[in-house]
Amino acid sequence: MKAHRWLFPCCLALAACSSSGKWPASMEQEPAVQPLEEARPAPSGSIPLGGVETVVDRDDVEDLASPTPLDAAASARGAKIYAAHCVACHGASARGDGPVSDKFPQAPNLRHFSICRRTDGFLYGTLIAGGRAMPTMREGMTSQNRWDLVAYIRQLQKEGCTGGAPGAPNAPNAPPQGGTP
Ligand code: HEC
Repeated sequence: MKAHRWLFPCCLALAACSSSGKWPASMEQEPAVQPLEEARPAPSGSIPLGGVETVVDRDDVEDLASPTPLDAAASARGAKIYAAHCVACHGASARGDGPVSDKFPQAPNLRHFSICRRTDGFLYGTLIAGGRAMPTMREGMTSQNRWDLVAYIRQLQKEGCTGGAPGAPNAPNAPPQGGTP
């Protein structure tokens, strides 16, 4: 029962501390940046880990160049990613003959002249921002994956750029596919 004698003065002392203003009683009262109040810029030179790149308009990254060579190794990696992510629309041969192209605006032959003329950065940006009908493909893909896909597209185009079958959306006289060439 002796402890009770100390309890009251202790509580008084604590109350005095918290009301003095010197010792904030709650963390809410401390100076702090509240959620959604202010986005802090990343320190210079920092590299995002696991974040997704945001490109609103693929024209904005037209001049971007790949930080790694678009060589045979990159193209081989790109071919595997293509088989998983792109084949449904663009088709196994990349001529726009994937099954989804029957139900959806037809995906173009990736060897089409208008796509051959694109810059690497524009193709890369298409994979982030999407095209006129093509959805964004950035989910679950790293920046390296996208450059590998660009390398694969360039590899396909080495077979020769084409206008596609007459009358098809990717025919020579058809308007350029997606965006301004
Ligand atoms: C849902 C169907 C669909 C999927 C999946 C898809 N595409 Fe497309 N893609 C299209 C259509 C439709 C177009 C033409 C119209 C446009 O630009 O949106 C197109 C256009 C393109 C172009 C031409 C862009 C230009 O304007 O020059 C490239 C390059 C391309 N796709 C690459 C890819 C790659 C690589 C993948 C896989 C990561 C992929 N696409 C996945 C439907 C698709």
